[in-house]
Amino acid sequence: MTPEQLAGFRKLFPVTQRYVYLNHASNGSLALPVVAAMNGYIERCSRHGEVPYPEAEAVVEDGREMAARLMGVRSDEIAFVKNTSAGAIIAIGSIEWQHGDNMIVMRDAFPTNTYPFDYLLPQVEKRYVTSVELAKGPECVFKLIDRHTRAMAIDWVHFLSGVRADIIAIAAHCRTRAIHILVDAMQGLGAVNQGFGELGIDFVYAGGGKWLLGPQGSGILYVNSAILPKLRPANLGWLSAKWDDFNDIYTRKPMKPGASRFEEGTKNYIGIYGLRESLRILLDVGMSEVAARVRMLTQLLRQRLEQKGFEVMTPVDPQRHAGIITASRPDVDMAALFARLKEQSFICSLRENRLRIAPHFYNTEEEIERFCAALPAKDEPGV
Ligand SMILES: Cc1ncc(COP(=O)(O)O)c(C=O)c1O
Repeated sequence: MTPEQLAGFRKLFPVTQRYVYLNHASNGSLALPVVAAMNGYIERCSRHGEVPYPEAEAVVEDGREMAARLMGVRSDEIAFVKNTSAGAIIAIGSIEWQHGDNMIVMRDAFPTNTYPFDYLLPQVEKRYVTSVELAKGPECVFKLIDRHTRAMAIDWVHFLSGVRADIIAIAAHCRTRAIHILVDAMQGLGAVNQGFGELGIDFVYAGGGKWLLGPQGSGILYVNSAILPKLRPANLGWLSAKWDDFNDIYTRKPMKPGASRFEEGTKNYIGIYGLRESLRILLDVGMSEVAARVRMLTQLLRQRLEQKGFEVMTPVDPQRHAGIITASRPDVDMAALFARLKEQSFICSLRENRLRIAPHFYNTEEEIERFCAALPAKDEPGV
């Protein structure tokens, strides 16, 4: 991308005017076209009363197409959902569990990828891996598998350490074993260029409000078309069916053939209008370019943090991390440092007493340099 092109994309993000915004692991910032699309829809509804259904449905289908392109899958494998959790809940509710089944989960996963399994599947034995083990390779998963393993749920990118699990190797290993693979892609989708089509993963779910740069309350669920016919949709509703019109309400309609059957009722049109625009931006930049910029910025960040004596817990290998860099220094009051950075308009997160720093493609090297210049020098104790 040329500097002019980058400057053009940066202009779409008003947050860049006031902040050095490095907090995409918490919230993506909303670009102007995202805001305009949502506002336009809301204003139109308010002026005309009726929802513009034909237009709104066309936007949904266009957005579905874009989500599919971003993930390298078919558009009939994409459902819009309200958040990451909905994806996990739909996945486990749609699998036919059997007596004696076990599933592999991450002990330190973000709770999206533990609570539904613990509370909705108490009868299923859980076998645990950690992100630290996954950082070393996928063998920790393989050794837990036996013939009763029905599923595994992995955070693609860990919310704290930033460890990116080797889901490609995991999927390859499990492909012949009929184990359902569920991937929480919230911290990876939109930051990493990954095609999911050929991997053999069954479910991928991600909210739209972080790296996808969309609004909160929007999200994407990918369901592999190869397993779709074997699932019993957990959330089957009236809009899981194919309606030509709503004149004849009582004749039973057939279920939609694709993953849109998981869109059980009225959609979050506002969210999808916005998400479609943020997907468009990512596709316009190109996911390989987005990922390359995220990689370059995180590498620079790591280098500067280490020069300042910070311990970086995120793996060095670019294949084993995405856009999150998490770091701390034992001699520094991290909460005080975080507060001071915020006062100076440097926005990141404080997690488990560490700074979690998460740049996106539209951040610049100069912003990383300024952020790191605001950190205490190597031998400067405290804050
Ligand atoms: C890995 C991961 N998954 C999911 C979520 C959020 O889940 P949901 O979209 O259901 O709120 C987060 C953070 O908010 C996360 O870091």
